[in-house]
Amino acid sequence: MANLKPSIIVIFGASGDLAHVKIFPALYGLWEEGFFPETFIIAGFARTKFDDESFKKTIFESINSYCRKRPVSEDNFINFSKHIYYLPSQYAEQESFKKLSEFTTAKASEYNMPKNVVYYLSTPPSVYDNVIDGIKNVGLVSGTFKSGCFSRVVIEKPFGYDYKSAEELNKNLLSVFNEDEIYRIDHYLGKETVQNILAFRFANAIFEPIWNNKYIEHVQISALESIGVGLRAGYFDKSGTIRDMMQNHMMQLLSLVAIEPPALFDADDIRDEKVKLLKSVRHLSLNDVKNCVVRGQYDRGMINNKPVIGYREEEGIALNSFTDTFMAMKLFIDNYRWAGVPFYIRAGKRLKTFKTEICVYFKKLPYSLFAKTGIENMRQNSVIITIQPNEGISINIGAKMPGFKLDIEPVNMVFNYRSSFKLSPPEAYERLIYDIISGDQTLFARYDDMLIAWELITSILNGWSKMESPAFPNYEAGSWGPKEADNLLKADGLSWNN
Ligand code: BG6
Repeated sequence: MANLKPSIIVIFGASGDLAHVKIFPALYGLWEEGFFPETFIIAGFARTKFDDESFKKTIFESINSYCRKRPVSEDNFINFSKHIYYLPSQYAEQESFKKLSEFTTAKASEYNMPKNVVYYLSTPPSVYDNVIDGIKNVGLVSGTFKSGCFSRVVIEKPFGYDYKSAEELNKNLLSVFNEDEIYRIDHYLGKETVQNILAFRFANAIFEPIWNNKYIEHVQISALESIGVGLRAGYFDKSGTIRDMMQNHMMQLLSLVAIEPPALFDADDIRDEKVKLLKSVRHLSLNDVKNCVVRGQYDRGMINNKPVIGYREEEGIALNSFTDTFMAMKLFIDNYRWAGVPFYIRAGKRLKTFKTEICVYFKKLPYSLFAKTGIENMRQNSVIITIQPNEGISINIGAKMPGFKLDIEPVNMVFNYRSSFKLSPPEAYERLIYDIISGDQTLFARYDDMLIAWELITSILNGWSKMESPAFPNYEAGSWGPKEADNLLKADGLSWNN
């Protein structure tokens, strides 16, 4: 049993989608596995009118639909839900926050526990400032440090809309919390396979010596989805893939694959290295944005043999929307390790397949011993780190085909998570919530890596605002994205790992 401090977890936006699909199932999963404080209280804070009992009913349904541990027995749920409360509230009303303050004080004394509180913002970003101001105005967190209790705030992406708004949001957060109390969630960092990137690189002696521009030709990072925008039109149409995926998940993957070894495996040392890495990403001029960044939007097409509508036909999307549902770019990292190695990064919706992977391609042989025997075009070596699905790593090499003739064929050496460990990995949210309660920030974005990523993304957004509107839609649903994304690699004699 993990030894976690008694905690009160307040979920703002507790009746929303994220809370029901991800947060409550993760809280229950942790509790059921014993990775939860013995003394705990969960308080839902949202606008929808529920009482404690009707709120618990909705949670039971969500957990039964989404929790890794489902089906959930009613008896178990009754034990868990004894600690759940609901506060119908308004984000802009001080009264609601006063009630929350009275609630946390009363419950801490009833449960005879210190007032350790996690404030989890699972609301639309439009009310972040209201919630932060509410917490500040009623003095919810003042003096907790002196009294030996902790206060932590959890914030979901998008952390802002561009560099400026991200900076303002940050300032507001820092007017209430210290940086070491702020947990910016990027759920990719909670994925086992993403955490394994550092283990793969730094727990093995054989890869790191060749993980540089002497041996690596280029790197591809792809997050391809076959789902469309679904019911998230309101949020997505204002964000696009550039803010939804590139600014956060893709920049985190880039950082992990390319950072220098940290001095210690701890939150600050790892995040210091990420900041150094992101600072070395070459800035994009307007010309670079024109030539090295591709954006796309899906049209109608076929996914799994079924017809699907185009982005502009989705409910809640304007007929003339110029929001990007696909983006690809070529970046360079100007440092000793990576000088001259292009990183091609792409993410998009309604594509032919669902996969997230990092492909590291090694340089071709300096000399082919086998050329004289008629074997000229041997495939270059590569390491493919599959983040999802089929989590694992494959190393692609050339091997002699059995037989009297000398024939060299590409083969894969495969490590597969499920068959090697025979365990199902915890959900990303379980891992991240566990870390929040235990106070470990290693898997969370820090203000500076988040802002540097925004700098790059804002320069692209500014570039786009100076360019002509794109000819959207420009790729069919069920394809690999716009042809310009293929051309980005073709121009360098390469192709995506489709
Ligand atoms: C979310 C984005 O952060 O990540 C979604 O908002 C995207 O648009 C999702 O679909 C992808 O996450 P995963 O875990 O399915 O790869």
